[in-house]
Amino acid sequence: MRPSICHLNGVDLPLDEARVPVLDRGFIFGDGVYEVVPAYGRVPFRFDEHIARLGRSLGEIGMRDPLGHEAWAALLARLLADNDPADQCIYIQVTRGVARRDHAFPKDTPPTVFAYSFPFPHVPESLRRQGAACITLPDTRWLRAHIKSIALLGNVLARQASAEVGAQETILVRDGWLTEASASNVWVVRHGRLAGPPMDNLKLAGIRVGLMDALAATAGVPLERRPVAEWELRCADEILLTSATKEVLAVTTLDERQVGTGKPGPVYAALYAAYQGAKQQQAD
Ligand SMILES: Cc1ncc(COP(=O)(O)O)c(C=O)c1O
Repeated sequence: MRPSICHLNGVDLPLDEARVPVLDRGFIFGDGVYEVVPAYGRVPFRFDEHIARLGRSLGEIGMRDPLGHEAWAALLARLLADNDPADQCIYIQVTRGVARRDHAFPKDTPPTVFAYSFPFPHVPESLRRQGAACITLPDTRWLRAHIKSIALLGNVLARQASAEVGAQETILVRDGWLTEASASNVWVVRHGRLAGPPMDNLKLAGIRVGLMDALAATAGVPLERRPVAEWELRCADEILLTSATKEVLAVTTLDERQVGTGKPGPVYAALYAAYQGAKQQQAD
């Protein structure tokens, strides 16, 4: 494999040579946003949707998209060509730039624009077959989880709790209602019907959430977008996670209790197949 090439402020360079000043507001305040764009065979998947969400996140923090759609497309194409293997994820981060430390926004400071590629971390076959173990925790994050902020301490602490017990994800519940997981959206299946909570300020609108209507239609699964109560999560026949890297993943253990039959279920299988179909369709 060739050495990793990244992009920093207009220059493509080896990842281990890229440097950001310590007064970057991303480092000092977590003042920035990010995206993770999956790519298969060096072609970004749902690129337009990812760049649109980046624009919305930037807008929410009072920043403009520093590059625009065409320039992002060219940048991603270069990174995908310059890195291996063929299946990659592109991480994009835009911060409010380098300035004297002061909470208020600096004036006329150029943003820091960084992007790098990492090999697509495919879910291991054994985990796909077995399904994921998850724990639940109260969602104590801030009330603007719809912004894909680089300030991820709430998500980091939530994820660490599951890592410490050897589980793959932490599902978050706020006031008795499912929100999302530390780095994925969450869906429940009861009596053959798929349900996922409506997107609002308490959840990140996953790009796969936007795809779910089409996937469910292909899979022939009725989909309801409505608040999902914690008790429904606890007596679900199936629980699913979606994210760029997990794609669609079955949850078979919740707080050490078996979910449904304890094996990835038929709705999971149908949606996972539909997702692979959507990837294939884009490649054709
Ligand atoms: C908190 C959170 N929710 C949901 C998602 C899923 O979003 P996507 O499908 O765009 O990867 C992510 C992805 O990393 C996330 O971090």
